[in-house]
Amino acid sequence: MKGVFVTGTDTGVGKTLVSAAFVRAYAGQGRRVAGLKPVVSGMASDGTYEDVEALTRASVPPRTMDECALYAFPPAIAPHFAAQQAGCRIELEEIERFVREQARGVERVVVEGAGGFLVPLTPTAGFADLAAALGLPIVLVVGLRLGAINHARLTCEAILSRNLTLAGWVGTWLAPDLPAGTLEGLRDHMPVPCLGIIPYHTPLDPEFAARHLDIP
Ligand SMILES: Nc1ncnc2c1ncn2[C@@H]1O[C@H](COP(=O)(O)OP(=O)(O)O)[C@@H](O)[C@H]1O
Ligand SMILES: [Mg+2]
Repeated sequence: MKGVFVTGTDTGVGKTLVSAAFVRAYAGQGRRVAGLKPVVSGMASDGTYEDVEALTRASVPPRTMDECALYAFPPAIAPHFAAQQAGCRIELEEIERFVREQARGVERVVVEGAGGFLVPLTPTAGFADLAAALGLPIVLVVGLRLGAINHARLTCEAILSRNLTLAGWVGTWLAPDLPAGTLEGLRDHMPVPCLGIIPYHTPLDPEFAARHLDIP
C-alpha cells in the first residue's frame, strides 16, 4: 500500500484541504487514488460530511461515502466519545482492514486522521496506533497561526518517538496574514522537511493547493 497518512497539529488546521491536495497531486501523475477518512464526525444539516465530500470528489475514480468512511458519527465531537454515545465500539483492526481493502484497485491512498495525532479512538488506542499499523509515511499539517511552532514540534516528537516515518510537514495559511516569525521558526526548528506551504485562498481549491506540494 502506497500513499500518505495525514495528521495535523489540531482540528481545523487544513488536514482535509491538504489531504484532498495530495489526492489531486497523485491524480495529476495519472494515478488512481483514494482519499479516505475512516473515522468522521460532524454531520451537516443535509446529512453529508464535509471531509468525506471533499475526499470522495477528489478521488480517481470518485468514491461513495461508504468507500471513504468506515465510522461516521453525526455529533461534531471527539470520535471515541461519539462512538461511546452511539453505543458503538471502534475496532482498530477493522479500520486497518477497511483501508487495505479500499487500497486495492488504486495506486495511492491518502488517509486523513481526525483532530491531532494523539486523539483516542478506543479506551486503549488511537490514531497514532492506526498510523503505526498502516505503515504509511506521515504528513503533518501545520495550521500557520500563533502557537503553531510548539504544536508542530510536539507532534513531531510524538511521531518520531514511536519510530514512525514522518515524511515532512505542510503549512497552511489560516488567515490572510501570518503571525511574524512563524514560518521562519518552523523552518529553523522542525526536524523534518517542509513539503509545501499552501497560501491563503478562498474558496478552498485542492487543485490549487496541490500545485504547492512536493509529494513524497
Ligand atoms: N490555505 C487556506 N486558505 C484559506 N483557508 C484555509 C486554508 N487552509 C485551511 N483553511 C481554513 O481552515 C478551515 C479548516 O480546514 P480543514 O481542511 O477542514 O481542516 P481540518 O481537516 O484539519 O479540520 C477551512 O474551512 C478554511 O476555512
Ligand atoms: Mg478534516
